[in-house]
Amino acid sequence: MSHSDSIQSHLKEARKFPPAPEFAQAAHCGSMADYEALYQRSIDDPESFWAEIAEQFHWFRKWDQVLDWQRPNARWFVGGQTNIAYNCLDRQIENGRGDHPAIVFEGEPGDQRTLTFRELRDEVVRFAGALKQLGVRKGDRVTVYMPMVPELAITVLACAWIGAPHSVIFGGFSVQAILDRVEDAESEIVITADGGYRRGGVVALKTHVDDAAARTDRIRKIVVLQRCNNEVTMQAGRDHWWHDVVADAPTDTPAERCDAEDMLYLLYTSGSTGKPKGIVHTTGGYMVYTATTARYVFDLKPDDVYWCTADIGWVTGHSYVVYGILANGVTTLMYEGAPNHPDWDRFWDICARHRVTKFYTAPTAIRAFMREGREHVDKHDLSSLKLLGSVGEPINPEAWMWYHEVVGRGRCPIVDTWWQTETGGIMITPLPGATPTKPGSATRPFFGIDPAILNMEGVEQGPNAGGLLCVRRPWPGMLRGIYRDPDRFVKQYWSAIDGVYFAGDSSRRDEDGYFWIMGRVDDVIKVSGHRLGTMEIESALVSHPLVAEAAVVGIPHEIKGNAIAAFVTLKAGVEPAAGLRGELSKHVADALGSVARPEQIRLTQALPKTRSGKIMRRLLREIATSGTVTGDTTTLEDFSVVARLAEEQDKAV
Ligand code: PRX
Repeated sequence: MSHSDSIQSHLKEARKFPPAPEFAQAAHCGSMADYEALYQRSIDDPESFWAEIAEQFHWFRKWDQVLDWQRPNARWFVGGQTNIAYNCLDRQIENGRGDHPAIVFEGEPGDQRTLTFRELRDEVVRFAGALKQLGVRKGDRVTVYMPMVPELAITVLACAWIGAPHSVIFGGFSVQAILDRVEDAESEIVITADGGYRRGGVVALKTHVDDAAARTDRIRKIVVLQRCNNEVTMQAGRDHWWHDVVADAPTDTPAERCDAEDMLYLLYTSGSTGKPKGIVHTTGGYMVYTATTARYVFDLKPDDVYWCTADIGWVTGHSYVVYGILANGVTTLMYEGAPNHPDWDRFWDICARHRVTKFYTAPTAIRAFMREGREHVDKHDLSSLKLLGSVGEPINPEAWMWYHEVVGRGRCPIVDTWWQTETGGIMITPLPGATPTKPGSATRPFFGIDPAILNMEGVEQGPNAGGLLCVRRPWPGMLRGIYRDPDRFVKQYWSAIDGVYFAGDSSRRDEDGYFWIMGRVDDVIKVSGHRLGTMEIESALVSHPLVAEAAVVGIPHEIKGNAIAAFVTLKAGVEPAAGLRGELSKHVADALGSVARPEQIRLTQALPKTRSGKIMRRLLREIATSGTVTGDTTTLEDFSVVARLAEEQDKAV
């Protein structure tokens, strides 16, 4: 990594918004004094702090030890046995929530469904029985590739019910992504749908699964939910309709007694190599952490209608559409489609009709809404909203203010929550009844979290000095490893600075102890909040028969936060035909899904490299953003390459 000394922050933001007294009065944590006291306790005595919270959940067997910390391996609630789906369903029904809505669903075409906790439980148990009948056993990895419909939540909960880890693949990903993940997880069963609705069209999910299945003999069973009635091919023996398997399923499959450290799920995410890594989350600590963060950060109350707009294919959907919310007995709203279908007011229309109280989305969406104009928001009654949340990338103060004024009408606290796939749950965040917010800052650490800004030597930085955002102590929701790759786990997260967790962000901490996240400093690019590895996109480009070499950089983008610029050299003797850029762009989208489609493709004679052959991405980034190179080029092997790149830039479209 070549960053830490060059991390500088130019953002100066002086506005401060204290919580409204009415909000604070009713909040789970209603003052900074309460926050400070609880935080201090969670740091001084984390084991008793977390044990006290964990007591409130259902355990088949209580733990013997709260934490076993063998750096970097943590085990939480050692010896305890529980079931997270049981906690999300039966425990809620026992608490009298059986007839309360658990899932409120709206499909893109406008179809609606509500499932109470009792109805959801019945569906989950039935599908759990179906999975067992299909031969799924405890510990088997179940691949899930579905649209945002209730059956997606039912599937993950059914997997949890029988102790079979799920591996959910975002429906926007494509064939190669399915193949890589199925292979890495050694997963023999895929749960999918004929299709899902997106922007008025149908995404042919089953066809993608078929294409993946044709390229591996790993996949033995495919369950297909009928959602869009688009035409699909069903292969006898391998493929089963969802409605058939549930019709024959028993309705009394008991919840599996899972060890607190049994794997709950695998979720693949991009890192600094060509292959995504399978992040492992386990059961007990994850349950306690996601539920507790959800309760405090969203200040969840029994009558909330909570809506997180993330797809369950991302960690945000795992933790804060499904587990963390249902474990609090709160209604979670699921919406299948695009924010701008049929028009740019779809989200606000949904908020108004369903009387949404807590709303959690991504900065990229907020910026897109800003661009389209406030009239789409203004025409809806948003008086039910009490709190707004942001996640996935830094939110620029301008977007924060717009969110606050236009969506929140100046009366809703905003929680800007920093966390990662690896952290399982929210790590740095305001508590809405306590923390005065500053636009653009994720503010202070959650209970039990000990973050620090360190330089490459591990020295803690003073106020406002940029550095690497690290975490010094274990927390219950933390990842337990990279699937089948313990060495990579240590190398990726625990080696940049010896013994502390570092997963790729830079930040500074201001004089009030507030964190200001500055963004990734590794080979990960956040495009519309989606996490993409430069190496994955480069591998996809190089897999095209005409491409010799490719380098990908992130460039600032007004709506997406970052966009992808790809520099491509063609094989010797290949003359670029008209339309080649479009073809390469499609090639990447076919391999990785349209989220990875490059914004710019520049065909170039050569890439700038150091004498040791390393591509100098910093120079490419400069070329792509400003057209020239002003930074240090002394390590460049061939100076003429940069001049040529700048010339080619003039010709680039
Ligand atoms: O760079 C940070 C950014 O998103 C990364 C994690 O991405 P992913 O694993 O896909 O999880 C996204 C949802 C939790 C982080 O390393 N990020 C996430 N939240 C914020 C953020 N950057 C700034 N502010 C945030 N609130």
